[in-house]
Formats: sequence, structure tokens, C-alpha cells
Amino acid sequence: MPASVLVGAQWGDEGKGKATDALGSRVDYVVKFNGGNNAGHTVVVNGETYALHLLPSGILTPGCTPVIGNGVVVDLGVLFEEIAELSERGVDCSRLLVSANAHLIAPYHRTVDKVTERFLGRRRIGTTGRGIGPAYADKMNRVGVRVQDLFDAGILRQKVEGALDQKNHLLTKVYNRRAITVDEIVDELLSYSDRMRPMVRDTGLELVRALDAGRTVLFEAGQATMLDVDHGTYPFVTSSNATAAGACTGSGVPPNRIDRVIAVVKAYTTRVGEGPFPTELLDEDGERLRASGGEFGTTTGRPRRCGWYDAPIARYAARINGVTDLVLTKLDVLTGWEKVPVCVAYEVDGERVEEMPMTQSDFHHARPVYQFFDGWEDDITGCRSVAELPVAAQGYLQALEDLSGAPISAVGVGPGRDQTVVVRDLL
Ligand code: IMP
Repeated sequence: MPASVLVGAQWGDEGKGKATDALGSRVDYVVKFNGGNNAGHTVVVNGETYALHLLPSGILTPGCTPVIGNGVVVDLGVLFEEIAELSERGVDCSRLLVSANAHLIAPYHRTVDKVTERFLGRRRIGTTGRGIGPAYADKMNRVGVRVQDLFDAGILRQKVEGALDQKNHLLTKVYNRRAITVDEIVDELLSYSDRMRPMVRDTGLELVRALDAGRTVLFEAGQATMLDVDHGTYPFVTSSNATAAGACTGSGVPPNRIDRVIAVVKAYTTRVGEGPFPTELLDEDGERLRASGGEFGTTTGRPRRCGWYDAPIARYAARINGVTDLVLTKLDVLTGWEKVPVCVAYEVDGERVEEMPMTQSDFHHARPVYQFFDGWEDDITGCRSVAELPVAAQGYLQALEDLSGAPISAVGVGPGRDQTVVVRDLL
């Protein structure tokens, strides 16, 4: 398939990194199209663990060109730190391309992110504190600074002045913080210009030309469907479009060039930050899932909230993204439970509801309706085909497929690159 999009079906941390890495080894380009260093991909290659935040996971595959698209917000300090760390470990980062239209995260965005959260108090979003929301807010307010501005010092200064104009009033008068000077920001940003220049391209043009020439492209979403600013659990979302359509606006590749949409979905559910989560387990079962799944944030180290598989959310993700294939991850984490509950519908104010409720209030009131499936005891980390899985695990898989609105094409049974049951080829 020339162009495929890979998205998360739940609230992030579904294990997209491993899936992108597996597919990335067979495609020519891997494109990140939304978000920034709020993402965290853990990829295990040849026993080595890599935690990527900003760089597309294609960076780990020789011969693949990683692309940071226009829809991404780029923190240059983080970009060069990540490049330095990987280079030290022998990873070649020289193929990386960055869109001239991508927006920059400046130090004042991080400051605003943190002070806003503090001021929201109980209404906080639980952001990663990386300046993501404020950088996207500036983009929409048309006071953003873009990668291309690094190459015109005069324009850069004007834009930073424009961005700081209101922010300094806010920081000093509302949040009681010190004002940020234009000089400190301009000097910091300009210090990256020369190193950035060789990577910067019209990446939309480059990608369409690559597709015209028969090359394969994988678009990798940051975050996930339920964190999408339009289709997620607003306002407890990130500030970009993490769903499949975002691959087009965030890269400059039109919708009719996309052939396949793969959604990664965990065999249970996790969420970090605040917001509704109907199947959340606040008891020792939740603790047990967190411990066996290693559910702590890659970016912030925060313990993730854990709960059972939520089929209405999977169906919603299948519909919103036009999912052609599901990749189910971390099935091995469920080994050892006598019964495995799956949320098949919700009860909202006494009524059974099969779809995502229309309003935020209804979703906050949604109580899971569970169906219980037989668990399995045998270690499945060595299984490489569905037939090798215990019968109960096969039953669980079949149930999820029937309930989730799209076929399951691959199943993760461990963190390693090869620990995957492939049902049908994804490319
Ligand atoms: P922000 O993206 O830092 O603005 O955070 C907004 C919300 O999205 C918070 O609930 C974060 O915890 C969540 N979030 C952002 N990035 C990720 C991710 O990569 N995985 C899971 N949750 C994320």
C-alpha cells in the first residue's frame, strides 16, 4: 500500500511505536503529522530500548526517511537533544526532513502551559507541560513562529515581538511571572538556524512526488483518537488532530492519496491526565494491570490510569478514522486473569447506549456494561500465530474483532520487534 496512516484508537500509549517501527522498516518515509514532544514512543530494537518523543520512529530504520510535517509543533532544544542522544548510540539521523511550515514551541509556550494548568486548579487538563497547547493556540491566533522564520532574522524578531506582546502582559499582570525579552528568545532560536537549514523542506511537495514515484509512506499519528481536539473527550484532549484526517492537513498530502488506515488498540485501556474514562479501575485490579503492563508515561513518568477494553470506543475510532485494520497490542499483559471483562455498551442515566454518547455530560455519566470472557494461564509471549494461542485467548480476540468495527490484522504478545502474531499483512 503506497500510503497508510497509523493512529491510536484510545487515549494514547497503545504501542504505536512498535507498530510504526515494524512497518517503518518496510516503507520509504515515516511522517509525523501532529503533536510534538508530548508523545512518547518506546521502541525495542535488537534488545535496545529507545524512547522517542519528537522524532518519528522511522529514524531507527536505515533507509527510511523520517519526516516532521507541517502539523507538528517543534521544540528545537528537544529536537537536537534527541538527535544527539540517538547519534551517540550509533543511529544515523542525517535523513530527517522538517517542514518549513511547522510551528515552533518557544520557551514562553512551556511557561504559559504550566502557569495555565496551575491556575485551572481542579479544572486542569493534566497536560504534559511541554507547551503544546499554547504553541497551537498561537498558530490559530496567527501569532505563531514557524521553522522557516529561522532563516530571516528580521521576520523572526517581528514575529517573536508579536507573540510576546500579549503574553508578557498576561505573565506579569495575571500570573505574576517575569516578562520574557524578545532578545533572549530570538537569540536562542537563531542559535539553531544553521543546524536546521539542511533538514528543512517543502515536505508536502516532497511526499507527493515520492508517492508519484511509487514510494511508500507511513503517516504516524501522535496521541490518539480520544485525545483529538475535535473528536476526543474535549476539553481533556491535546490541541491537534490525532485522527486519520489530520494526516492530510498535517502533511500536505491530499485525502485521495491515502490507501489504508491502521488503528492501534491496546487489549485493555489506559489514559494519562484528567478526563472521563468509563472502564477505569480504581481498585487493586487497576494496580495489577498497571504493574503487569508497565503503565507509566514515557514522556512524564506519570502512572497511567488503567481499565478494561472499551468496545464502544473502538467502534467510534473505527468510524472516525475509517479504520481498515486494527493492531491489538499487549495481549500478553492479560495472561493470568480468570475472567477478562470487556465493555460492550454503556448505561447512561438508566438507558443502554451502544455508541459514544453525543454530549460530554452523558459520557461523564456512562457506566460500562461488561461481558466476561474466559481468561488464560499459559505464557503467550512466544506465540507467532493465532492457532498457537490458548483457546481462551483466541476467543477473546474473536470477541474483540466482532465488537470493534474492524478486522484485527496483528496482535502484540510482547515488547520485542518480533513478538507479534500477524494475521494479515499490513502493507
Ligand atoms: P498536552 O498534549 O500536553 O497538551 O496534554 C493534553 C492531554 O493529552 C493530557 O491529558 C495528556 O496527558 C495527553 N497526552 C498528550 N500526549 C500524550 C501521549 O503521547 N500519550 C498519552 N496521552 C497524551
